[in-house]
Amino acid sequence: MEKIKTYPQHTCSWLKGRFTLYKYQEAWNHEDWLDGEIFAQQNFIAHPNDVFLCSYPKSGTTWLKALTFAIVTREKFDESTSPLLKTLPHRCIPFLEKDLVRIEESHKNSSFLPVNTHLQYNSLPESIITSNYKIVYIYRNMKDVIVSYYHFMKEIVIPMENASFEEAFDEFCEGISSCGPYWDHILGYWKASLSRPKRFLFLKYEDMKEDPTSNVKRLAEFIGRPFTIEEEKANVIEKIITLCSFENLSNLDVNKSGKHRPEECNAVENRLFFRKAKDGDWKNYFTQEMIEKVDKLIDEKFGVTGLVL
Ligand code: A3P
Repeated sequence: MEKIKTYPQHTCSWLKGRFTLYKYQEAWNHEDWLDGEIFAQQNFIAHPNDVFLCSYPKSGTTWLKALTFAIVTREKFDESTSPLLKTLPHRCIPFLEKDLVRIEESHKNSSFLPVNTHLQYNSLPESIITSNYKIVYIYRNMKDVIVSYYHFMKEIVIPMENASFEEAFDEFCEGISSCGPYWDHILGYWKASLSRPKRFLFLKYEDMKEDPTSNVKRLAEFIGRPFTIEEEKANVIEKIITLCSFENLSNLDVNKSGKHRPEECNAVENRLFFRKAKDGDWKNYFTQEMIEKVDKLIDEKFGVTGLVL
């Protein structure tokens, strides 16, 4: 922990100097997650059948975790008994940087439980890179990620105060953000997928909103839990989509009032994982100059990839 303080650091002025990011292995992270990252790198042993749900923060992680959990537990629970009705999706699927003990327990019991991480690809524990891993990567339009990140960080660090969106925007575009730079996060997974395409499923947040049915089917097939014809006829896919919809999850008591990891001093209120879930909310925040800056960045960083952001 003390060693982390010796890494290059940046204190975010738009968060009134109350939040510091540290640079480790080319990525920025805060102390708490960085500690868990290093611990996972030193101790995590992947199992051949592991499935990892990877994302840059604010790209739809909560939704992906809910959908994946509903898919893998559908034989045990339905839409009226699912633990998702009483539990924040982040508690249903463990987080590599924080929940190593729980992940090891599920390995010991040979129970299939996907694992979520916000780590950049190059920072994943060695045993993931060398194992027979499957990776589901969700990504989202950069402009909406910036707005979502701004609100989330402001709420958790300086809830009652104003924060400059311009400063937050500039910092993000310089690559300084939790788990950033944002483009390196996506590009790391994308480059790794070129040599092992069958091991990766890329899901785009906006596509999932437009066509949830076919994307949920792709997800289920990829993680080895395809829907049967009988299940399709019984509308199981639609029921899972409704259960995990923003409208449903954001209105549940647990997600309106509870706290995530209440034992920690930096516990986050569950409601903060559910804001608007609207595509294009950035239009309410961006100036013309900001639009041009991000479009130029997207062009420069993602031009060759074919990924549409
Ligand atoms: P907004 O801030 O734009 O509303 P993450 O889960 O990676 O932290 O991403 C959070 C974003 O996903 C937030 O976006 C949040 O509202 C949205 N979100 C949360 N649950 C969702 C769901 N079930 N369906 C669609 N979007 C969801």
